[in-house]
Amino acid sequence: MDVMEAIRNRSSIRGFKPDPVPQNLIREILKTAVRSPSALNSQPWEFAVITGPVLEQIRQANVMQVNSGAPPALDHVTGLWPKDSIYRERQVALGKALFGLMEISREDMEKRRQWQERGFRFFDAPVAIIVMTDTALTESGPLLDIGIVVQSICLAAVAKGLGTCIEDQGVFYPDIIRELTGIPKRKRLIIGIAMGYPDWDFPANQLKTERDPVDQITSWIGFES
Ligand SMILES: Cc1cc2nc3c(=O)[nH]c(=O)nc-3n(C[C@H](O)[C@H](O)[C@H](O)COP(=O)(O)O)c2cc1C
Repeated sequence: MDVMEAIRNRSSIRGFKPDPVPQNLIREILKTAVRSPSALNSQPWEFAVITGPVLEQIRQANVMQVNSGAPPALDHVTGLWPKDSIYRERQVALGKALFGLMEISREDMEKRRQWQERGFRFFDAPVAIIVMTDTALTESGPLLDIGIVVQSICLAAVAKGLGTCIEDQGVFYPDIIRELTGIPKRKRLIIGIAMGYPDWDFPANQLKTERDPVDQITSWIGFES
């Protein structure tokens, strides 16, 4: 699979087969992904790859937190989409598309709650990767580099027949993850990645999200046509 194909084929996977993912395969994916560029080759990323009973404990603790109404306590600020903006519209469109595929009606609060829980359970993936950085770095400084390595992980996973979902939800309650994994307080948890073999029968995995046409978002400057 070439890189163009991997980029086109990647999509967020929110339903996984229970099959375990070999540790060596994940190591190979990470070894490839860390070839990603970073500012001054600072490599401001670290990973915790979690499976088995610890991942089960994280899922349960996350779900308990969210069901208790605990507000997110993320280690860094994430997107706040202004009301009446195109960004908010896209977010609403995504929710509608996912709920449509999952046959969750707007009024069905119980099913909506269950769907939200799935995210906090890392979509029941056999593996969760927590991507971290060091608090010695500024909060926003390493985010671009981390974004690049995260996409590299997702693309390498596609090349190996695996699916991923990048997710904020997984790290909404970082102290729980620290407590259950021993990750020290000086590490800032940036994002989670659910990983496993895709269950292609899971309806939400059919989603192919929209993108704006490139010419709508690109200024071509100095070209003849
Ligand atoms: C920084 C970031 C955070 C995300 N957080 C979540 C999340 O918490 N839950 C979720 O279901 N998807 C999450 N996603 C996946 C996006 O919804 C998805 O990438 C987007 O809708 C485009 O769809 P695609 O990945 O299938 O192309 C996240 C993606 C990114 C890049």
